[in-house]
Amino acid sequence: MSKISLKVNGASHSVDVDPTTPLLYVLRNDLDLHGPRFGCGLGQCGACTVIINGAAVRSCVLPVSAVRSEITTLEGLSKGGTLDPVQQAWIQEQVPQCGFCQNGQILTAKVLLDKNPNPTDEQIRKGMAGALCRCMTYYKIQAAVKVAAQLKKSATGVGA
Ligand code: FES
Ligand code: FES
Repeated sequence: MSKISLKVNGASHSVDVDPTTPLLYVLRNDLDLHGPRFGCGLGQCGACTVIINGAAVRSCVLPVSAVRSEITTLEGLSKGGTLDPVQQAWIQEQVPQCGFCQNGQILTAKVLLDKNPNPTDEQIRKGMAGALCRCMTYYKIQAAVKVAAQLKKSATGVGA
């Protein structure tokens, strides 16, 4: 076991864990953050996605000791009680069915729009390709990403 320091959603934490423990387990079991989900556990489905350094990262295959930067989970997306435009769009478009994959969908969409505020349909498909949904909500996801881009644009002027 080792003491490991983590910054998650603006808060500092110290955990006493085996350094090879996947970040996902530490987030869920030690820090009680249940936004990231265990899907495949193999880096294949995206359910466990978190954001590190502006990238969508699969926390199920990332040893906690390898994390050097702040982690943002689904719980950290809203600011001061205001939902992120992606979250607002997801509600507006009623995207989820069972909801299991949606942590990965929302965080992947957030990263996509932060990098490309005005994506084409093709760019959305490519950007979201690694986030799998067994309920096949892909058309709704595509529509919601477009709505989120519009909401983001009206909130910040970015992409206008
Ligand atoms: S649970 Fe991590 S990619 Fe599937
Ligand atoms: S909403 Fe059920 S797996 Fe995506």
